[in-house]
Amino acid sequence: MPPSHPSGLILGIESSCDETAAAVVRNGTEVLSNIVASQVTLHADYGGVVPELASREHLRNLVPVVRSAMLEAGVGFDQLDAVAVTEGPGLAGALLVGILYSKALAFGLGKPLIGINHLEGHIHAVLMQSAQAPTRDNPLLALVVSGGHTHLYLARLSGARIWTYRNVGRTVDDAAGEAYDKVAKLLGLGYPGGPWIDGLAPHGDPSAVPFQFNQIKPREPSRGLRFDFSFSGIKTAVLRYVQANQMAGSIALRRAALESLSGCKPAEAAGLCDAMTLNLIASFQAAVVKNLLRQTFAAAEAFGAESILVSGGVAANRELRRRFAAEAAVRGLAVAFPSVALSTDNAAMIAAAAWPKFLAGETAPESMGAEPQLRLG
Ligand code: KG4
Ligand code: ZN
Repeated sequence: MPPSHPSGLILGIESSCDETAAAVVRNGTEVLSNIVASQVTLHADYGGVVPELASREHLRNLVPVVRSAMLEAGVGFDQLDAVAVTEGPGLAGALLVGILYSKALAFGLGKPLIGINHLEGHIHAVLMQSAQAPTRDNPLLALVVSGGHTHLYLARLSGARIWTYRNVGRTVDDAAGEAYDKVAKLLGLGYPGGPWIDGLAPHGDPSAVPFQFNQIKPREPSRGLRFDFSFSGIKTAVLRYVQANQMAGSIALRRAALESLSGCKPAEAAGLCDAMTLNLIASFQAAVVKNLLRQTFAAAEAFGAESILVSGGVAANRELRRRFAAEAAVRGLAVAFPSVALSTDNAAMIAAAAWPKFLAGETAPESMGAEPQLRLG
């Protein structure tokens, strides 16, 4: 059982991929500190996260990141109610660094340890910032869309505060963010690709290249009505377009120019792209956003959800936010996004997701390990 006078303070720790993060959150909503040490530059040369390098970097960064989070929050370790850590899904070695550290810290402090599903964390990044009140008949629909995931969940409150989730859609191949990253790499842009495509797309014509998404046959028909996604086809279609239009030369020049220009921001790179490239970027983004929107709103209608939450790194995308807000307004639905800082991986969302579990006395067993394939719902 939780103590009779909780301080409300939870230290969250997140190390599932390439961000080492720690945050102190009070009562599941008030962010006192939110420190993220990004490894983006370390992995940029490889165009993707290198698991072994990520684990070593977490090991190097975790202690200073936690120390900064505690200092910035202005609280002592003895004031914490609990330590919360991402249990999965994610990279096994990366998760293990956070979990082993958190276990040792919680044990040393004599405080409870709470294991959090990273995907539930992304959902709480929105819930902690906007009061949503689902009922049994009217669940929330959450789209979690990032570099590793594209999932749709129906979220319900069971009892006073425990959230339950049912997965009603997932990608059958690449995640949407992965498609952004791969297409950006293919076009000689920087890593991660999402912000580059987001910054450049407004300079192109989104109707120039007509990309199509086929309906996905449900892989798990026993799980009922599904709204699955597939993003590997569009990546191949972009590759074919590049080959058919002999764009390799201009791509190589752009890649070399960006390598020599340190600190070039995505929105400033338009001068390095010809009209065909900008149109391709705008058309790719329009097609991905349209597909995310179509599946999400179809699922909302099918399940009677009146509120939609969008979270994960791709939720930082400006076109996606604009299109989702416009569609929700037309349909009379509510849509909520996290602040941009809480869209990508962070530990405030882990501490926020842990708060209702702490109040319910749901702590992690001593045997908790890394769960790279952990599912939600
Ligand atoms: O949630 P996140 O930080 O890590 C994962 O759990 O994957 O998401 C990272 C992903 C990357 O694929 C990145 O390209 C994408 O989010 N991303 C974006 C934007 N900012 C980040 N995608 C589209 N538009 C953006 N503005
Ligand atoms: Zn994430």
